[in-house]
This record gives sequence, C-alpha cells and structure tokens, in this order.
Amino acid sequence: MSEEIKRIGIFTSGGDCAGLNAVIKAVVYRAVLHYGWEVYGILDGTEGLALRPLRWRKLGIQDFTPFARLGGTMLGTINKGNPFAWKMPDGSEVDLTDSFREGVKELGLDALVIVGGDGSMRICGSLCKKAGVRMVGIPKTIDKDTPLTEHSVGFSTALDICTEALDTLQTTAASHHRVMIMEVMGRDAGHLALMSAIAGGADICIIPEIPYTMEGILKKIRERKNMGADHILIVVAEGVKTIEGEAVLSGKGDNVRYGGIAHYLSEKLNEYPDKFSSRYTVLGYVQRGGIPSSWDRIAATAFGIHAVDMLAQGETQRMVAWQQGKVTDVSLEDVAKIGTQKVEKNSIMVQTATGMDMYVGEL
Ligand code: F6P
Repeated sequence: MSEEIKRIGIFTSGGDCAGLNAVIKAVVYRAVLHYGWEVYGILDGTEGLALRPLRWRKLGIQDFTPFARLGGTMLGTINKGNPFAWKMPDGSEVDLTDSFREGVKELGLDALVIVGGDGSMRICGSLCKKAGVRMVGIPKTIDKDTPLTEHSVGFSTALDICTEALDTLQTTAASHHRVMIMEVMGRDAGHLALMSAIAGGADICIIPEIPYTMEGILKKIRERKNMGADHILIVVAEGVKTIEGEAVLSGKGDNVRYGGIAHYLSEKLNEYPDKFSSRYTVLGYVQRGGIPSSWDRIAATAFGIHAVDMLAQGETQRMVAWQQGKVTDVSLEDVAKIGTQKVEKNSIMVQTATGMDMYVGEL
C-alpha cells in the first residue's frame, strides 16, 4: 500500500466515447477498496482544476449504478482550448499552469488519473509536468490514433456502431441498386473507416493515409458491376481530402471540424451516368455514443486498475497501454514523440482489405 497517496483526482479529456464511465468505476474501486484512498472526480477536464470555482465531486463505489453501463462521461469533458494560452472572454490569453497547480493543491490531490486521446496525453502530460503534478494517463479514443497501445477505450464500440450502420445501409443500397457512401469519424486517421469497411463488407474504402483517384473508384465500381454486383458500398474517413487536395470542413472558429467528404464524393460520382446513382450518409456523433461493448468495458477495467497500481508504485508521466495481450505502460514522452498513430500501408488491415479486392486507394 502506498504511504504517500491519500487522495487522487480523475478527469476525462477530449471527445467523449463509450467506456469512460467504466474506466472511472475501475479507478474508484481499485483506489478505494484496495488502497483505501479517496477519489475526487474532476468535472469538465482541466477546466475543473484550472478555472474557478473548482469543479469536482467525491466519488465512491455507490456512484456506479448504472453509470458504468452508460456511454459518455459522468464527469463531463472538453476537447478544445490550450491551457498554456487559454482564451479569456476579453480576447487575452493566459497560462493556466499556476491555477491548475493551485487547484490540485487546494483539493489535496496527491496524483491524477487522466483519461484521454493522443492530444490530451500530450497537452495534459505537459501541463502536469510543468505544474509538478503526478499523473498517469489512460488511452481512450474512437479514432484509434493514440500511439504505443493496441487498444484504446471507445474504439471497439464505435467500430461496432459503424459496422451495424453499414449492414443497415446495405439493404437500401441493394434494393435501389445504388452506390452508398458512409462517412465515418477518425480525424486524420483511417482506422475506424478501414476496419468497419472490412467488417461490413465494403467494396471501396478511402482513408487519409492513402491517396485515391476518381478513376480508381470508378474502375472498381465498373468491375463489380460487370461481375454482376447490383450495388456498391463505400466507406470514407472524414479526414480524406478532395481530389484537389483540400480538407472538407464544416463550422467556423473553435467549431471547425471535418465533415462533408461523402457529400463531395457522391456528387462527383453522380457526374458519371454509366454506374449506379449515389447516395451518402454521415454517421456523426452516433459513433461516440451507445452502450459500451463488452471489450471496451474489459479494457477500461484493466486499464483503470493498472493506472491506480502505477500511482501506488510511484510512477508518473506514463500512459497505460495494451501490447501483445498484456496491460503495460509507456512513457508519455514517447507517446508525444510519435504524435498520431496513422494506418500503415503495409498493415494487416490494409492487407486484409486488399485481400478481399477492396479498393483502398493507390498503394
Ligand atoms: O477525436 C474524436 C472525434 O470524434 C473525431 O473523430 C472527430 O473528428 C472529432 O472528435 C469531432 O470533435 P467535436 O466533438 O469537437 O465535433
């Protein structure tokens, strides 16, 4: 049992996803029941500690019925803003490091568990380092782009949702003999698109990591049509650029985000009359919701226990990771060095897709 730690804080950071409440539950159970620590849930990510009034609630094992089964995060989260240059209402920018450090001190927190994606690991890791706060990270993301871990909480549920959506879209595509394009999230990484395309039996999958051509897409559609196919399924990742090389964005200012590439591709395809007519669907935030899959709950639980054990052993500035069937941990510095984990062209997923004769771009 740790002599030093009596109370820890936990917060979620970045876009929400399924499985976050299961992480929080595991951290609370391990910390309270095994180590006898207190756990404070910090509300709305770094804001809860860096802004005033401090926002937090004490967590106990009574807090998790039925929360661990629900998607989202019971603590709230933020995925915008830079704590080192925080925008104030008057337009000025302030560094929140000192007020974050004081918030941690005021609540008597001996260490933090931070649940986040690649961006949160980098930013919150630096913030804690600069503020001298002990922390361990737990990876979560529907984008699967956090480096050095084979699993991140939330991805498995999002993948199931995308696969089910493709199954659902297939019937209309077949009934009307259409090209059906499904746009999925993933930011600059194509893992969610490619894996759901494989699971859902798509004919074509376009991801940011592999350049594509309209000729390539049309060739595959015509080939399939000549072989008797009466519809085509395409999955496209939101971060894919247009043929002209431009990102397709929606929103303004702080609200800019990817969105619209499926519409663009669908319009382009409809310029060619010798194939099926095209329709598109943008899945959007349904991918981040839903009841967590059993696998996300299991990974969340294993990660939460490991994170608390790491704090008990005096570890800091590390991220829990899943590698080759084991729960382990890696340095946050190494995670930050790699940045975003993209789909590799020679990966098993690309090989599996091309093995099924899927067009995934110009390899
Ligand atoms: O990183 C998770 C994610 O859902 C991305 O896939 C997507 O591009 C982004 O967040 C959307 O963010 P927001 O919630 O700000 O619209």
